[in-house]
Amino acid sequence: MIVKRGAVSHISDWVPTDRKVMVVTDSGVPFQYAQAVLSCCPKGYCHVFEQGEENKTLDTVRHILEDLLEKGFTRTDAVIAVGGGVVGDVAGFAASCYMRGIDFYNVPTTLLSQVDSSIGGKTGVDFGGVKNVVGAFYMPKAVVIDPDCLSTLDPRLLHEGLAEAIKMAATSDASLFSYIEEEGPLEPRLDRIITGALAIKEAVVEADPKESGLRRVLNFGHTVGHAIEAASAAQSQNPLFHGESVAAGMLYMCSDTVRARLEPLLRRYNLPVSDPFDTDTLLSFIGHDKKKQGDTITAVFVDQIGSFEFRNMDMDQMRQCIQNHKNATL
Ligand SMILES: NC(=O)c1ccc[n+]([C@@H]2O[C@H](COP(=O)([O-])OP(=O)(O)OC[C@H]3O[C@@H](n4cnc5c(N)ncnc54)[C@H](O)[C@@H]3O)[C@@H](O)[C@H]2O)c1
Repeated sequence: MIVKRGAVSHISDWVPTDRKVMVVTDSGVPFQYAQAVLSCCPKGYCHVFEQGEENKTLDTVRHILEDLLEKGFTRTDAVIAVGGGVVGDVAGFAASCYMRGIDFYNVPTTLLSQVDSSIGGKTGVDFGGVKNVVGAFYMPKAVVIDPDCLSTLDPRLLHEGLAEAIKMAATSDASLFSYIEEEGPLEPRLDRIITGALAIKEAVVEADPKESGLRRVLNFGHTVGHAIEAASAAQSQNPLFHGESVAAGMLYMCSDTVRARLEPLLRRYNLPVSDPFDTDTLLSFIGHDKKKQGDTITAVFVDQIGSFEFRNMDMDQMRQCIQNHKNATL
């Protein structure tokens, strides 16, 4: 894992580039980043697909595979993703299945992908209307993070990624949380925020590579957050982003003392601290949540910043929890 400003222009410091390299990016990523990587690859090619979650499909993977085949890529060649989580997931999946797996490198360019999706080896696409349902665990050979790439990112996307870093700090690193809370501009502090969040995610993934236990800590805010995201997608003209929904969802699953610190921090970065959905609406979406096991749902609860516990809740307890939060914020 490399976090270094200007790294995109020096990719061969970490990636052996004396072979065929397919740089995969999407149409929304400023081309200068793919161009910088390509300038380090004497046998470099570029594959650009249309931006957007709606293009995270098997068809997009198929086009990349066709391109690799057509350009004569062999087992010893490599794919480099340059873009956000969509590019990383799609390019990683293509690399995982071309010739049963060729080297994959990730150069994430959104804050969300830098602190979250580039680590852990999850790759894949949406299929049959279900997100991320087809894919593979496939570890990148290296992840090269250049915080300077964030300078072109839309502030709403930057803050969405920050919500993920706040989430990880809240459960696992009190000093990182305090650092994010510090006053002053965000931009010069991004390196340490990224490094701190990555350390948390790396430790969690190492302890639980196939997501069977501890890795669920990363779901802090997701139990209610997913319901907010789904309700917002169904009912709003301008739906909340995933990270924004998680931000609002975290406030349902924490103590009053944690909420007193979390809420002003989220507000500062224009992240939502409430939602317009009633308890029954949220519960109906939670009922469909994949984390529901039998009659109970395992939610991550933060009682003190830097720590967490798993709480098994039945639907009555969940109703009570949502209601308590809504009453407290009336
Ligand atoms: N694999 C995992 O573990 C994992 C974890 C979390 C999320 N994800 C996936 O990640 C995806 C979301 O990722 P995302 O939020 O990065 O979205 P994204 O990849 O769609 O990027 C958001 C937008 O920003 C543009 N963009 C990217 N980098 C830019 C830059 N530096 N400057 C300007 N614009 C830029 C993109 O073209 C896109 O339009 C989802 O598909 C989600 O399922 C995967």
